[in-house]
Amino acid sequence: QQLGLDEQVEILPYDKRWEFPRHRLKLGVQLGAGCFGRVVKAQAIGVKDCEDTVKTVAVKMVRSQTNATALEALISELKIMIYLGAHLNVVNLLGACTKSIVKGELLVIVEYCRFGNLQTYLVKHRNHFINQVDEFGNFLTDAEMQERCKMSGKTMESMNDCTAVNLNEMEMTAQHSAHLNNECSVPVAEANRSNEASAADGLEHGDDERPQSMWVCQQDPETARTHQSSICTADLISWSFQIARGMDYLASKKVIHGDLAARNVLLADNGVAKIADFGMSRKMYYKGNYKQSGQGLMPVKWMAIESLTDRVFSTQSDVWSYGVFIWELFTLGKVPYPGMEANHELIRQLEKGYRMEKPDFAPNYFGEIMTSCWKMDPKERPTFSQIEELICSQMESTV
Ligand code: ADE
Repeated sequence: QQLGLDEQVEILPYDKRWEFPRHRLKLGVQLGAGCFGRVVKAQAIGVKDCEDTVKTVAVKMVRSQTNATALEALISELKIMIYLGAHLNVVNLLGACTKSIVKGELLVIVEYCRFGNLQTYLVKHRNHFINQVDEFGNFLTDAEMQERCKMSGKTMESMNDCTAVNLNEMEMTAQHSAHLNNECSVPVAEANRSNEASAADGLEHGDDERPQSMWVCQQDPETARTHQSSICTADLISWSFQIARGMDYLASKKVIHGDLAARNVLLADNGVAKIADFGMSRKMYYKGNYKQSGQGLMPVKWMAIESLTDRVFSTQSDVWSYGVFIWELFTLGKVPYPGMEANHELIRQLEKGYRMEKPDFAPNYFGEIMTSCWKMDPKERPTFSQIEELICSQMESTV
């Protein structure tokens, strides 16, 4: 029996080594907001291993300093992040300002992911999607791809970043450490200049570049530049794989996310996808995707059948949500169960065995992954590490 998030958090300590001086943090524009919490962009001087340099960060805070539940939830998330440690596919903690916590102010400093959340990103790039599978869910051959390129006016060369998928473990590890060590090199004066510029343009997230796929073959910058805003099937597969990895890490630490969805996955540089909002998830509910269900607002369409009927959350219920996340990926950010808005109707249909179909853009094996994630019996669902392995082996056989 796994402990619920609330119970887990009670016993976690706050480690003072994470404390960051408030005066070294300059808050900027808002990046996102929910009912109780908000996230702003900020500049931090000398945060986590970045001595005397300025780093762009994201800062989570409560919306109202008098909301005790919201504050408690943020404290929980902070403690979970400290306990978790760093992983490439998780939005990592950089520090916290807890000195004014008695006044209701808590600032949790996390990595800034400049492409924002995956759901919005997918919708925004829907019209530039390069589909690499045919109508039967099979990967296109090079010749077919060439034909498709000709029709869409693109060159095969410019598509190479999408088709050359490399799941080499060594490369992943190298990218991982490179990623964790980068972004620390901006001198203060220089950063202040660019800081002013970005504050002036008021942009939430970089819009000008697309993150490159994790497994992109190193390509020349010109190719990257001319092929900016498209996403392709290989990107979607890459993100599905990375999120399985991140979730496998959470599961290995016995942390239940409870709200895995594309809106809670953030995109960083180099096509890196990161899981966000664990810990807050069951208390902090964004408007829109959540429905009142008993005690509070619930992300009904992402919830496992046993979570809906018995309020049971587990790593296996996270696996169910992962299936819905995959569906969101391959529909380029559609809302699940289109047209089904009544909770009781959704639950009734799920209990009768109804499940969503494989999206057209998904390779066949993702249909099988979804089906297995949505098994009625949680024990019959795959583990995140099995999902990881499956995606990996499939990719190797199609490259
Ligand atoms: N929106 C919410 N959290 C964010 C983060 N860490 N980086 C960028 N945008 C965000």
